[in-house]
Amino acid sequence: MQIEEILDPISFKEFRKEYQGRKFFYVKTKNKDRFSHLYSWEMFDRYLNDYRNVINLSVINPPVNHVSKREDNVFRKGEDDVLKKKKNAFNYWREGCSFVLPFAEYQNEAMVEVCETMEFMYGDGQANIYCSPTAESKSFPPHVDSTENFLIHIDGKIKWTIYKDFWDAKRTKKEHELTVAEEFELSEGDLLYLPKGQYHKAISLSQRISISFHFPKQKKYKGNKFFRPKRDHWYDWEFWK
Ligand SMILES: [Fe+2]
Repeated sequence: MQIEEILDPISFKEFRKEYQGRKFFYVKTKNKDRFSHLYSWEMFDRYLNDYRNVINLSVINPPVNHVSKREDNVFRKGEDDVLKKKKNAFNYWREGCSFVLPFAEYQNEAMVEVCETMEFMYGDGQANIYCSPTAESKSFPPHVDSTENFLIHIDGKIKWTIYKDFWDAKRTKKEHELTVAEEFELSEGDLLYLPKGQYHKAISLSQRISISFHFPKQKKYKGNKFFRPKRDHWYDWEFWK
């Protein structure tokens, strides 16, 4: 896979010159199946049905009577006892909480391939899958991410608000202090690039799946040579059958 296939129609050269690390962009596509091979509701169901073996799961903004003690108000499996039981996770989903499946790229070869492609430019990254059960699912308030983000939309509609403001170590800004740069809707096959540290908010307008590919660092080029990723290769189990 080439980087251009992900950024299309933005060229790699244009991305480096105009956007990387400073300016967001989004691409709305007519080809709704552009990224549909990356994830599906069937894959989500299969992952969660095998609940005992689920290592990574976060539940965002649980209902008020179950509020997490952490500032981000997220329950994490392995850290919060309430998620030991599948029943509780099941009920949170029914009550409209968004789920995050972090470090999910090894669920299939296609996500590993996207990570590997971008890692030539960035070094180690990861895929987090965001799933919401309904419109207006409980999700994060405006915030910044400490990584470069490439968000690929798999299913459903999402309203994004991107703010002009970037992270300032002196103080975290509240919603009313932020200035909106742009609001837009994304759906199946669309892509959003968000530079590290830019404030944003996403509200699901329907049931949805999106995958955010996160990269904490930006590698420097040496001449025209790219950084060589050290990611564990995808060994296809099917091959051995
Ligand atoms: Fe974010």
